[in-house]
Amino acid sequence: MGEIKKTLSQAILERRATPSFDGTPIPEEDLRQILDAGLHAPSGYNMQPWRFIVVQSPEQKKRLRAASYNQGKVEEASAVIVACGDADGWRKDIDLMLQQGREGGMPESYAAQAADSVTAYLSSFTHDQMTAWLNKHVMIAFTSMMLMAEVLGYDTAPMEGFEQDKVCETLRLPMSYWVVAQLGIGHLKGPDKFNGGRFDLSHTVFAEEYGKPLR
Ligand SMILES: Cc1cc2nc3c(=O)[nH]c(=O)nc-3n(C[C@H](O)[C@H](O)[C@H](O)COP(=O)(O)O)c2cc1C
Repeated sequence: MGEIKKTLSQAILERRATPSFDGTPIPEEDLRQILDAGLHAPSGYNMQPWRFIVVQSPEQKKRLRAASYNQGKVEEASAVIVACGDADGWRKDIDLMLQQGREGGMPESYAAQAADSVTAYLSSFTHDQMTAWLNKHVMIAFTSMMLMAEVLGYDTAPMEGFEQDKVCETLRLPMSYWVVAQLGIGHLKGPDKFNGGRFDLSHTVFAEEYGKPLR
């Protein structure tokens, strides 16, 4: 286990989207702990449709930067985790999900119901619905990784500024993969970005129904 440098609440409140990294390598053990945090995320029916490509080699980071509107932090980060969803993952993984579930005590009645529901639900999706479904799951795992990295004392940069086709080509991703976001991890170089602040709770949170303020 890597050394805990911040509490979760400090990590959440002090995190900034890192503008520039110093490029020092990230120890294998810390990277594993960060990845593991993401893999523990919840998902609908535990289908875990996320897939991650960890990019650390200078050559591959350079290519990834070219696919990411030339954002310098892609090349400077110690590691870039490219977070993807696999639209066909559930078809291949449903038996594995049920097998692991049974090993953990999943009742047979649940397994039978899940097998039917997952297939009926996900096979009915349009392309856009599948993309939305992948996005929501991948981002939970992504956020868990980002916060674990911050807790371990790293700086992070979430990124959506990339060209889907170019990233797919650079990483040789299967056709069923959808790239959701990239997470740069490393140590801040130079000054941190400004703190943009956040909208007040009264602007974004309502009580019981839309428009009613939370008191
Ligand atoms: C999903 C996502 C994608 C983002 N993509 C980029 C990006 O491509 N390039 C960039 O410089 N910042 C990117 N950001 C960082 C945001 O600009 C930043 O989070 C926001 O301005 C708030 O700043 P803060 O995170 O430092 O509080 C992204 C953030 C998120 C959550």
